[in-house]
Amino acid sequence: MEFKTLLTSAAIVALSAGFASAQDDATLSVDGEVIKTRADAPAFAENLDTVYSGWHFRTGETQVLQMDDFENPAFVFVDQGVDLFDKVEGSEGKACASCHEDVADFAGLRPTLPRVENGELVTMEDLVNECRTDRMGAEPWKYSGGQMTAVTALIGLQSRGMSINVAVDGDAASFFERGKDLYYQRVGQLDMACSNCHEDNYGVMIRADHLSQGQINGFPAYRLKNAKLNSAHGRFKGCMENIRATPFKVGGDEFKALELYLAARGNGLSVETPSVRN
Ligand code: HEC
Ligand code: HEC
Repeated sequence: MEFKTLLTSAAIVALSAGFASAQDDATLSVDGEVIKTRADAPAFAENLDTVYSGWHFRTGETQVLQMDDFENPAFVFVDQGVDLFDKVEGSEGKACASCHEDVADFAGLRPTLPRVENGELVTMEDLVNECRTDRMGAEPWKYSGGQMTAVTALIGLQSRGMSINVAVDGDAASFFERGKDLYYQRVGQLDMACSNCHEDNYGVMIRADHLSQGQINGFPAYRLKNAKLNSAHGRFKGCMENIRATPFKVGGDEFKALELYLAARGNGLSVETPSVRN
């Protein structure tokens, strides 16, 4: 909504003419571990040379919050994730921890998701809910709800520092193409595509916010704006609303395809979960 007055496509073009890209060249390290926040762009992202984490586009004040897990407000929710992981629920009388003894065993999972299983595109949220319904006899969690993001943050954290490496070929190819089409498709009253902001104009200031490439290597992400963890689909939804488009369904096929495409645009960046953003 706040973009309405400023962001006509013409305004965007005018803006981009006057600004150079403004990602900074700081280094993100967390407790001494360096997180890779820039990488050579994957070959398919033909309009980019380098991919940058959204961290580079935040102010110094926001950046430091992510450099120390004691300062990072997302860890309140990660702790809730630990409790949920140990909580017995459902008709089988089991907790996640009954079967997954050590959450650290999930190291390596986050960088590969979403992935295709038996012809279907599967996200982390799908895997968690499948265990809840089919293995615990419990209700699925709301796709972008607080319980889900707490646990997906906990599981994602186990891969922090590992390079994103999402497959886009083979079974994944058709989903990748769909995600790509959605990324470049103009929608909404402002008639804009994701690419108009996050590819053509990253680095530009819009309404006191600094446009990033819209990478998802840090999700779920803690946002200062709403003081909670936000799923990638929640973020996609917000961006679509900002351009006055009717958002696709959170957890639905379109956002899953978009997630695959966006995740792959970040291939080579480190998993940063849980990140801190505006
Ligand atoms: C009754 C045993 C059981 C319970 C309880 C259970 N899971 Fe699972 N889970 C499995 C099995 C079996 C698999 C598939 C084999 C594997 O990858 O370990 C699996 C797979 C997964 C995967 C995908 C792992 C991968 O590498 O592909 C995730 C993520 C996961 N479970 C999370 C959870 C969470 C979170 C909970 C609690 C909400 C939970 N599971 C509860 C047995 C269980
Ligand atoms: C009108 C410009 C605009 C459009 C169009 C737009 N966004 Fe955004 N988006 C923003 C702004 C502003 C932010 C917050 C600053 C930033 O990280 O870029 C943002 C943030 C994001 C982030 C968070 C990045 C991070 O590191 O935390 C993701 C992911 C994202 N957008 C995805 C999308 C997707 C997917 C689309 C298309 C459906 C889209 N955006 C369309 C303006 C836009």
